[in-house]
Amino acid sequence: MNAPDTVLVAEGLTKHYSVRQGFFGHSLVSALNQVSFSLTRGKTLAVVGESGCGKSTLARQITMVEEPTSGTLLINGHNAATANRATRAMLRRCVQMVFQHPFASLNPRKTVYATLAEPLIINTDFDQATRLARITEMIATVGLRPEHMRRYPHMFSGGQQQRIAIARAMILEPQIVVADEPVSALDVSIQAQILNLFMDLQDRFGISYVFISHDLSVVEHIAHDVMVMYLGGIVEFGDKSTLFARARHPYTRALMSATPAIRSSERRIQIRLEGELPSPLNPPAGCTFHQRCPYAIERCRHEAPVLREVDNRQVACHRAEELEI
Ligand SMILES: Nc1ncnc2c1ncn2[C@@H]1O[C@H](COP(=O)(O)OP(=O)(O)OP(=O)(O)O)[C@@H](O)[C@H]1O
Ligand SMILES: [Mg+2]
Repeated sequence: MNAPDTVLVAEGLTKHYSVRQGFFGHSLVSALNQVSFSLTRGKTLAVVGESGCGKSTLARQITMVEEPTSGTLLINGHNAATANRATRAMLRRCVQMVFQHPFASLNPRKTVYATLAEPLIINTDFDQATRLARITEMIATVGLRPEHMRRYPHMFSGGQQQRIAIARAMILEPQIVVADEPVSALDVSIQAQILNLFMDLQDRFGISYVFISHDLSVVEHIAHDVMVMYLGGIVEFGDKSTLFARARHPYTRALMSATPAIRSSERRIQIRLEGELPSPLNPPAGCTFHQRCPYAIERCRHEAPVLREVDNRQVACHRAEELEI
């Protein structure tokens, strides 16, 4: 069972995709590998890592769009895989999603009103007057005006479109919202407004966020906890202030070194990330980061480090205690 303040627990979540190789062959892409964490009620867990490290794959498992290859997902104490149909439908309502590109995520032929009415028609027995009242209230909550209800998505700016997408995610009062790079397609000036909207909604409704972002200055603004992923696995996980004060994994340190706003407030050794993320079709032996790690030793080449508690966070690095980084 989940602890009362824990809304979601992932245990060993693993996702393999089968991809064609050559004419007849198939290979497995290990997109997500033994990912375990818990999400606290009313808090934001930021997920960071390079393109291709498995962030969206994780989002698809949490939102139950896909079935994990192995591992379990407990949402409010219910096992998503073994729950009956009615419970699964209830869990799906509990977990909503906001995407990177708001216009692509909205139906261009539907007005804002119709977009927000749809989930209510499908999932509730509200009459039309109740729906209108709920939609009107939600429109105001996300900072839009009543006359916007009759308009179509193309009539809005990117920031406003994302407000509509957020309203759609919030209309069924979910407990968890998974946001996959929700501000990275927006103007920098608009990003802060949308981040503040996410934070206001969390304060008002006690929602938990899984907030995927490659931008550490965004993460610093919004996160409570931070999970750093590399090639489908967690390399470091902990409280934001603990991680930002001193990252223990060389990869986390490298991501921070690449973020000017964070780098300027840091005096510790910088790490430049060189080379590309290895292919998840053929992951390296040992520590998946060893080929790019300036601190790799012989042990890192053949023994995969397990996630363990060091200095108030979890970190998967053989040299986590040893290195002054
Ligand atoms: N349906 C699929 N079939 C095969 N491989 C897939 C599939 N979905 C994802 N992958 C692979 O899984 C890995 C993780 O992909 P994912 O989209 O989760 O990365 P990401 O961290 O979200 O990247 P980005 O920051 O670019 O969005 C990649 O190597 C990707 O090619
Ligand atoms: Mg992605």
